[in-house]
Amino acid sequence: DPRGGVLRDLVGRELLITAGGTREDLDPVRFLANHSSGRQGWALAHAALVRGARVRLAAASVDLETPPGARRLDVRSADELAETVAEHRGQVDALVMAAAVADFTAAERAAEKIKKDDADEDSVPSIALRRTEDILRRSVLDRGDAARPAIVGFAAETGGHGASALELARAKARRKGADLLVFNDVTAGVFGSSDNAVRILDRDGQERSEVAGSKIAVAHAVIDELASVLPPVSW
Ligand code: CTP
Ligand code: CA
Repeated sequence: DPRGGVLRDLVGRELLITAGGTREDLDPVRFLANHSSGRQGWALAHAALVRGARVRLAAASVDLETPPGARRLDVRSADELAETVAEHRGQVDALVMAAAVADFTAAERAAEKIKKDDADEDSVPSIALRRTEDILRRSVLDRGDAARPAIVGFAAETGGHGASALELARAKARRKGADLLVFNDVTAGVFGSSDNAVRILDRDGQERSEVAGSKIAVAHAVIDELASVLPPVSW
């Protein structure tokens, strides 16, 4: 911790942090997954704990040791993560959606292993997908006018479709309605790395800060911004 644990500005606060990447089973042996390691979510949990928060950590297939003091909630699929977030988000001051959530899952998981047809070398199965719930969006909508929880989204973007990564992130910030959106440009690739570079946007897509460095430094910068949007503690 670069601050030596001096700043205890989250005492009395509780955070729900999602981390890692969901896995969507196609059949008993195969799944759809993504490159998220869970390290940024873990760093957020560490930083929040050091600053005095209580932390519930919803972990989607994360192969890392639980940060001491965190309450770990293991999940596998996007549906399971949605359920866990729905169950816990009413009990926390902030929801931090660092997990990479599958946008699509199998419409129906095959009960038996999907086989290839040796008699027809050109045949391929088609796997029907359906959309998963947008947990961030749902959480913003369900919060309505309530002050809690503060909601932080993440967006890993590459440029494309005629727009820069930053332009896409600004549009996403406005569309999602979260209090903060942490944007990183993954054109160069950062997954699994211990460093990160992000811009923290508000709900209007305006940039509040920019930080590059270790994932723990990025985590503290995100929590600095989060602390500034939390409503005052009521005693
Ligand atoms: N997210 C979520 N539920 C989903 C998908 C994403 O809560 N089903 C959250 C992620 O945890 C992240 C934020 O939404 O905090 C943005 O995710 P991202 O994949 O960048 O946004 P999408 O709206 O899914 O857009 P895209 O088409 O670029 O994937
Ligand atoms: Ca997505």
